[in-house]
Amino acid sequence: MPVQNQVRARPDSYHEELRADVRAGLTATPKTLPPKYFYDERGSLLFDEITRLPEYYPTRAETSILHQHAAEIAELSRCESLVELGSGTSTKTGLLLRALLERGTLREFIPLDVDSAVLTDAAETLAAQYPGLWLAPVVGDFEHDLHAVPPGGRRMIAFLGSTIGNLEPSARAGLLGEVASTLGAGDTFLLGTDLVKDVARLLRAYDDAAGVTAEFNRNVLCVVNRELGADFKPDRFDHVALWDPGNEWIEMRLRAVGEQLVTIRDLDLSVRFAAGEELRTEISAKFRRDGLRAELAAAGLETVRFWTDRDGDFGLTLARLAPARRRS
Ligand code: SAH
Ligand code: TRP
Repeated sequence: MPVQNQVRARPDSYHEELRADVRAGLTATPKTLPPKYFYDERGSLLFDEITRLPEYYPTRAETSILHQHAAEIAELSRCESLVELGSGTSTKTGLLLRALLERGTLREFIPLDVDSAVLTDAAETLAAQYPGLWLAPVVGDFEHDLHAVPPGGRRMIAFLGSTIGNLEPSARAGLLGEVASTLGAGDTFLLGTDLVKDVARLLRAYDDAAGVTAEFNRNVLCVVNRELGADFKPDRFDHVALWDPGNEWIEMRLRAVGEQLVTIRDLDLSVRFAAGEELRTEISAKFRRDGLRAELAAAGLETVRFWTDRDGDFGLTLARLAPARRRS
């Protein structure tokens, strides 16, 4: 089976960064924790469960767009190498892989994710489904490690699942700039974005009846407990999802049930939570077509096509370098 061993973009950087991020986040006002630490083995399993919840429409909507337009995407991109950022299980990506293999151009698939466990599972599944495809998984951070992706002919970079919405606007601009500087003439960028819609539906998607999203949100506390010897009691934090109309994003928080003192042993740090105090864990920005086009343009990217699902819930953009940058 043509699966290359996982490449680590920066060996052993995870712990150092986790320590710095947790210290900075828990001593800030308001307290925060960065979202990439949701995703350990359990977090990735919980997210996979979220994608199948009745309330969580984004995965189904994006799947239907890919279903409908994969052949067209394959024709427009004609890529030899597909790179996927924050690839997770790469389930939806199968639709692209199939269309690109049928088009006859694709040679390799490079999934990049922070969670090595989910990459291992994904590579095993994909190797069985696409025996002719060269798989070269990279464990890394899409905000810092794009340079670790090996060059490989005409390339398409895919960033699905509206994961871009989990970044603050300035970080988003930074990532789009990095993507643009990684693309050459003839390369393409495929970006999935959830769209602004009825607030009640948005809120339900991030606060499901079965409580899976709540468990996923609390998982970041389990990760800090295990990795840094902290003593968070996850069940003493309530899951909160709210809509910020000014920023047009969903904000996820964990609200302390009663006053609490938490010790993070490996950081020699104790932090106090007042009763009802909220720790911010994640934003999930929702986009509009024009805003998206403008954000891409600001990063030097030109929109080639924009598709939505039938209900207009989710957007998929195919972009390339803007003409001024398309030399060579
Ligand atoms: N692309 C999949 C998964 C989305 S969930 C889908 O559309 O369903 C977000 C994924 O991004 C997770 O697999 C998570 O492990 C990964 N991730 C989150 N932050 C990351 C980061 N900073 N660098 C790389 N991967 C990250
Ligand atoms: N990229 C996903 C999104 O914004 C991640 C996600 C889904 C998520 N549900 C969540 C993150 C709940 C935190 C909490 O839709």
